[in-house]
Amino acid sequence: MEITQSFLNQLPLQDKAAIVCGHHFWFTHENLKYGIKKVMMTDGPSGLRKQSSSGDALGINNSVQAVSFPASALTACSFDRRSIEALGEHLGQAARAEQISLLLGPGVNIKRSPLAGRNFEYFSEDPYLTGEMGVAYVNGVQSQHVGVSVKHFAANNRENQRFTASSDVDERSLREIYLAAFEKIVKKAAPATLMCSYNALNGTLNSQNHWLLTDVLRQEWGFDGLVMSDWGAVADHTAAIKAGLDLEMPGKGAESEQEIIDAVHDGTLDEHQLDNSVRRVLRTVHQWPAPESSMDYDLEEQHQFARQLAANSMVLLKNKNQTLPIDQNETVAVLGELAVKPRFQGGGSSHVNAYRVSIPYDEISQRSNAIYGQGYQLADETTHEALIEQALEVAKDADKVIIFAGYPESYESEGFDKQKMTLPTNQIELIKAVSQMGKPVVVVLQNGSAVEMPWIDQVSAVLETYLAGETVGEATADVLYGDVNPSGKLAETFPLKLEDNPTFGTFGMDHDHERYHEGIYVGYRYYDVKQKNVLFPFGYGLSYTKFDYQNIRIRVTGNRVRVQFDVTNVGDRSGQAVAEIYVANQVSEVEKPIRELKNFDKVDLAPGETRTVTAILTDRDLSWYNQDQGRWQCDAGNYAIQIGTSSRNLVLSQVIKFTPIRQPHVQITENTYVGELQKYPELQSALIDSGLDAVIQRVTQESDSARLLENMPLRAGVMIGIDRAMVSRFLQLANQNNGYNG
Ligand code: BGC
Repeated sequence: MEITQSFLNQLPLQDKAAIVCGHHFWFTHENLKYGIKKVMMTDGPSGLRKQSSSGDALGINNSVQAVSFPASALTACSFDRRSIEALGEHLGQAARAEQISLLLGPGVNIKRSPLAGRNFEYFSEDPYLTGEMGVAYVNGVQSQHVGVSVKHFAANNRENQRFTASSDVDERSLREIYLAAFEKIVKKAAPATLMCSYNALNGTLNSQNHWLLTDVLRQEWGFDGLVMSDWGAVADHTAAIKAGLDLEMPGKGAESEQEIIDAVHDGTLDEHQLDNSVRRVLRTVHQWPAPESSMDYDLEEQHQFARQLAANSMVLLKNKNQTLPIDQNETVAVLGELAVKPRFQGGGSSHVNAYRVSIPYDEISQRSNAIYGQGYQLADETTHEALIEQALEVAKDADKVIIFAGYPESYESEGFDKQKMTLPTNQIELIKAVSQMGKPVVVVLQNGSAVEMPWIDQVSAVLETYLAGETVGEATADVLYGDVNPSGKLAETFPLKLEDNPTFGTFGMDHDHERYHEGIYVGYRYYDVKQKNVLFPFGYGLSYTKFDYQNIRIRVTGNRVRVQFDVTNVGDRSGQAVAEIYVANQVSEVEKPIRELKNFDKVDLAPGETRTVTAILTDRDLSWYNQDQGRWQCDAGNYAIQIGTSSRNLVLSQVIKFTPIRQPHVQITENTYVGELQKYPELQSALIDSGLDAVIQRVTQESDSARLLENMPLRAGVMIGIDRAMVSRFLQLANQNNGYNG
């Protein structure tokens, strides 16, 4: 619905001021006199936290029961767009059933330091992977007629002093690392809303940052949705509205409204500017209505989906002598309090009142003869010899020992940063003592972010389960016993020690500033350029089968690079291979990472089966951000296209010569014929990002009506399944940056 100026002119100033403030913690403002309904929003990102009574933003008060899905730190390891989209669909379905209009997620900040308190809520250290996961999630949720809030915009990478600290980042690093996922999601998935973060960026609070909220987000990227604040992020409401913020959440009630009224009266705020925000709030309320009444939905079905997602995302880090999978005839000792009190979700606003939690020890006991020993207590780090002795006794007769270890709840949460990257001392002592028995020891990790493993050489196998959600027990057992062949890949590097991370010694050290000294060298980009050994590289993860990669073929057409290669399952179990496609820029005379992830695919393969992977790269994938000229730059020359099973294990590689085609800008309108679009390689990115390319490819492949299609103007696209929103998105992208800068 278009909110007309004449409608806005009728609204009294006081009513407008109320509309740009939240109401009762989770609602927008209702105004029955003018027919304005309220809508409800709720956290996100890994399950619904709908609070029907007392509201809070820290997960303190209880919420309705909902399935606790795996945290994003784990789901990103799936490297599986389809699963993440399905996760979004389930979340959207739950939200709709609970009459929620806006789901507060996904969180797409970059994991810069292993100590950042909210790493568990974020996908990755890599902007490409984060962007792809974010797009899939948003598409999934919004397909259910529930809007999202992509958060926290932007450079929100530490929790201590999160309301005030300034992230001081140079523009190239911002664009390439910290903004890239937001940009992709805005352009490809048209999210309903974005949530601006608490922190400041280069000295200006994000809620008041005109450059961020208006120049970049709206003018460059073409975002036409709503920007809301994080809860309590607004310091100066008038300045925020002027910068491009639309909705202050949860709002300071009458005080927030009065600020706006006074500002209009004294001329600090132009009423037209206020109207822009009012219009965007009303449009959002209108576009994302909730059903009139709540509905039932199948929590059990969601639980089963959560189990599959968790199991398909877990990362097998070590598996000496094929210790895993465990045979059901083997007797196992299950050690560690986390086996019976699993840590399966993070603390803070994403905390869900879980529907049904499965316990690892119970699930293991159902599969084979298992005995439990506590080994340590979660409450503190003190080592109790008696618990270790008892654990050794329990393990004495077992064929294999499984130790559950991880970060206790008190270690990592929203609201504060971590102190260290090691397991609690009592857990380390247990691992050391038990591994001296000479039995095969499997360590199962439950943690929200990377962990040091000084004990790695003493154990036989390690399974990283992160925070697996309420199906933690079932999913862990599925992988341990081989019902599911692990296929997760690390979405972050595990350094050997915290000191190896580029933020060591500076992260969180200054109360007011977080200086991004490392620039673009975040995660593997840093470890690679410094040639540092790591514990486990980005993109790493084992399977119970083996894959072979052959026959790389590359074709360059205009600004598009088509990469193809074959993957074969050469083992004797079905499994899923994740093929990672990296680009190494060999031409640009500028600081640059050794290689960067630019695409990936996950393929399901029966033993002996071969499949061809096809991936498209565009000129943008070969570009770097030239901050002096304020544009993405793609240089003509050599690029190595490398296929890896991790960022450090490259199995195929080919160098291509690429010359970007820059043509004079062409004006594309609704009357432009589909056939004409193919003539302009510079439109490729816009075609792909808007989703139009996929529809055109499908129609061309599925029918023999390619000629007919060529002869159809965009405005008639509805006849072949191109919706209006897609056309608008394409026009915006195509005309805004002629497909090159975006
Ligand atoms: C968090 C947001 C969350 C909001 C509402 C804030 O504390 O930073 O991620 O969506 O609370 O609960």
